Order: sequence, then C-alpha cells, then structure tokens
Amino acid sequence: MRLLKQLFWVFLTLGLLLGMVLVFSYDIVKIDWVSFMEIQPSYASQEHPLPVPAQSIPIEGPAYVPGAGSPLNPVPADDVSVARGTQLFSTHCQMCHGETAAGNGPISAFLVKKKPADLSSELVQSKDDGTLFLTISNGTGSGYMPALNENLTVRERWDLVNFIRTLQAAEDQ
Ligand code: HEC
Repeated sequence: MRLLKQLFWVFLTLGLLLGMVLVFSYDIVKIDWVSFMEIQPSYASQEHPLPVPAQSIPIEGPAYVPGAGSPLNPVPADDVSVARGTQLFSTHCQMCHGETAAGNGPISAFLVKKKPADLSSELVQSKDDGTLFLTISNGTGSGYMPALNENLTVRERWDLVNFIRTLQAAEDQ
C-alpha cells in the first residue's frame, strides 16, 4: 500500500514536469528563442543587397570593389555599343526618362516626389562615365531611381553610358 502511494507521487511529479515542458513546446507560452528562421542575414526582394564581404573578388569585375571609386569605362563608344545602348534605353529607361531622355516618360507622371533626371542636362552630363555606371547599377541614394544591376549585365550598363553621352553630342550641335 505504501509503495503504491509512493509510486503515485512519483508519477504525479513526472507528469507535472512533462506538462511544464509541453506548455513551451506547443507555443502555449511563447518564448522567442533565437532559432527562428526570420532572424538571418538574408534580404527580401527590393531590399538593399548585402555589402560585399571583405577580401572577396566580385565576378562582375573591378567596378564592385568597395572603396575603389568610380570605375573607368572599358567599352569604346563605337556604333555597336551606342546602338545597343539605344535599344536598351528604350526597354529599361524610356518609361521613366522619356523617349528623348528629357525625364518625361509615361511613368514620370506618377513619380510625384522626384522626377526622372533629364539625361542630356548639364547636371547629368557633367558626371564621369563611372558615376553614371554606378547610378545605373545601384540607383540613386534617394531610392527614386531604382538599382538596375539585376536587369542589366555590366557590358549593357556601359553601352547605356555610351548612349547617354550621345545625348550631349546631340545637344552641342
Ligand atoms: C522607375 C523609373 C526609372 C527608371 C526605370 C530609370 N530611372 Fe533613372 N532616374 C529616375 C529618377 C526618379 C531619377 C532622379 C532621382 C534622384 O535625383 O534622386 C533618375 C535619375 C537618373 C540619373 C541621374 C542621377 C544623378 O545622379 O543625377 C541617371 C544618369 C539615370 N537616371 C539613368 C537611367 C538609366 C540609364 C536608366 C535605364 C537603364 C534609368 N535611369 C531608368 C527614375 C528612373
């Protein structure tokens, strides 16, 4: 009889302990253990990409070496490059910057806070090729000009820079 009583208490204690553990494991009492999937160094689409890890060599070329300043244009502005740039402009930029790159594309009406830049303007043309390249790649800091590095290869971005330069030439004539 005494043994039975003792066993009863033992099982009651074990049962209570088990119950306490289960309360946590079934989210009845929720504790934010640091093992949740959302706590990780990933980024969702449209969020800023992670900085390039130190000592790494970017597969896209030296333009992305952090702190290296604005890169030099490796693509000669020949007819092929400018023709490609013109084509790419109509696909990727015209909707905002407009047919003549004056900043009045169909989407510009909806960009209330910041209008797309006039690419033939002194403001844009006074920047060097590398700066334009980085603007196309990373967008402007304001976030109104989107980063287009995922849509355009490095070569395509330089073709666009070469195209933008022809706008100035057209102005000067
Ligand atoms: C979603 C609309 C949109 C698209 C698409 C777009 N731009 Fe822009 N762009 C803007 C806006 C808005 C600004 C002005 C942003 C600012 O001044 O902060 C701008 C500014 C610029 C500037 C000037 C940046 C400066 O430093 O003054 C350049 C150069 C430029 N865009 C080139 C391009 C090229 C080339 C493409 C296509 C590959 C392109 N943009 C596609 C909206 C767009």
